[in-house]
This record gives sequence, C-alpha cells and structure tokens, in this order.
Amino acid sequence: MPTFDGFPHVMVSQQFSRQWIVEEFFPLVDQMKHIFVSGGCDMLKGKRMVSFFYQPSTRTRMSFEFAIGYLGGNVLFSTENAREFSSGAKGESLKDTILVINRYRPDVIVLRYDRELGSEVVSGISRVPVINAGDRNPGQHPTQGLLDLNTIKKHFGHIDGLTVTMVGDLKNGRTVRSLSYLLGKFGRISINFVSPPNLAMKSDVKEYLFKHGVEVEEFTDLRRVAPASDVIYQTRTQTECGSTMNGKDGYFRIDQTILDMLNTDTIIMHPLPKLDEIASEVDDDSRAVYLTDQIDSGLFTRMALLKMILAPKR
Ligand code: CP
Repeated sequence: MPTFDGFPHVMVSQQFSRQWIVEEFFPLVDQMKHIFVSGGCDMLKGKRMVSFFYQPSTRTRMSFEFAIGYLGGNVLFSTENAREFSSGAKGESLKDTILVINRYRPDVIVLRYDRELGSEVVSGISRVPVINAGDRNPGQHPTQGLLDLNTIKKHFGHIDGLTVTMVGDLKNGRTVRSLSYLLGKFGRISINFVSPPNLAMKSDVKEYLFKHGVEVEEFTDLRRVAPASDVIYQTRTQTECGSTMNGKDGYFRIDQTILDMLNTDTIIMHPLPKLDEIASEVDDDSRAVYLTDQIDSGLFTRMALLKMILAPKR
C-alpha cells in the first residue's frame, strides 16, 4: 500500500503505482470476492469505521459500510449529509471535525467532501487513515477509479492497449478524472473525451495523460468513436456544480443508435446515478455493466482497501 505523508490515506489516483495495482490490488480484490461469496470473515474484528459524507451518496457509503461488515468490523458513526446532520451545519471547519473524530480513535475515516481534500487539509491533520470518497475542485473519486479499473480488467483480462471513451460532463465529473489518472499508468492506452466544449476535460488531466504517453482525442459526437471503443464510460451532467448540457452541441446519449454500432465485446460503464444520458433499453443489453459488475467491483474494491489499510499483514 502506498503511503501518503506517512499514513495510508487514500486521496488521489496518482498515488497508486502500476505495480501496486497489478500485483497487489487486483489479486486482493479477487480474494475479497471469495470472502464475500463464502459469507464474510472476521479479519477486521474490532476495527471501527466512521463514514462522514458532506454530500449525498448511495453506492459509495453503502458499499464501504457493507465492506467493513463483511470483514467483521463495525461502522461506529455514519452521516449521509454532514452539512445538515453534524456541526458542519453550524459552520464547524473540516479541520476541527477531523481533529475531534481522531480523538475517538476510529481506525479509518471515509470522507466525502464538497471541496478539495488534500494533504494540507486532511492528511497533515489526521493520525487516522482517511479515504477520499469523492471531493471537489478539481475533484477526484479514487476508490471509484479503482473499482472502474478492476471492472475493466475483469472483462478484458488486461488494461494495456485498450481504447476508452468517456462521455458527458467531463469538466465536473470526478470519476472520469480518477479513472483517467489510473489509465495513464498503463501502456498503449487511447482515450476519447466526448463532451460539449463547455464541459470538456480540464487541462490538468490532459497534460498528465500527454506526459504518460496516452493518446487523447476530443470529440462532440459519440457516434464517431463508439465503433472503435472497448469501453464507453458515460457520465451524468453535474447540475449541482452548475453544468448544463445542450443536446444541440453534439451527440452524447447512449441509445439504440449507439448500441447498434458497438462491438459485441465493448462494455458500457457509468458510475451512477444515471439519468437520461442512457436510454432505458441499454440497461437490458448484456454489454451494460453499470448495474451489475461495477456494483460488485465497488464492494470488493472497498473491502480490499479496508483490508490493506486496517490489516496489512493478514
Ligand atoms: N458512484 C458514486 O459515487 O455513487 P454515489 O454518489 O451514490 O456514492
């Protein structure tokens, strides 16, 4: 497990090496699947998790809480809307909140925050490992990136050489940022960014990919790249960040027209929640993995991360 300021915080996708992903993370996720199938274990017995979310979540919070449960640990405090249901509502700072949580001696804090979580904000303060469950500006969701990468690996057996097409609100979507950083660690990767100009991927990610030899192209019409894509990664318009999507700016929706263009082996991914950017008929297509494999991968990935942080030697 890579360390971050001396502690195994999970903050950004860039902190993980290719070697760690391939040699430790992927095998451990497989091991976690076996533990899940066999009904769980007590590997993390006595370990205490706090899940503190300043923004709503269904999958991330629930999968972390199920994950520690399947490994025998406990959730000792959980809030789904810390802005309303904690002293964050009275204006308490994140720093003070983290310091107070630390005094109760949990073993791990899973934190979703509506601003940037960085070493200066959390890692330098918390003696307890913190897992970034999604932050903002510029924003990452590293555990989602890892679960997405594992979903891709499970399907293709490898990551190198794949063509991944990311679609929609790439400017404010944190999952596409984290996945891009992870893909940049692999070889012969091509990424197509398909979005209206006002929601294009930010330059920091594009510069990173360029430096890491990833072939990047930008489009406004999904139909141009769908037939040559191994993965189509669709995203929701982040209206809560002020994003607006104008259908006249291009073709961004996955519908029957797109399904008819895809190879039989292509997979369709989405971090969820999804709205109208995916037509309902796509859910029943065998290439859609967002309601199946991606969800499973989320649980096993979070089990793996908790095991690595809380019981690294077992
Ligand atoms: N993918 C994701 O982060 O979903 P939630 O917002 O429901 O956690």
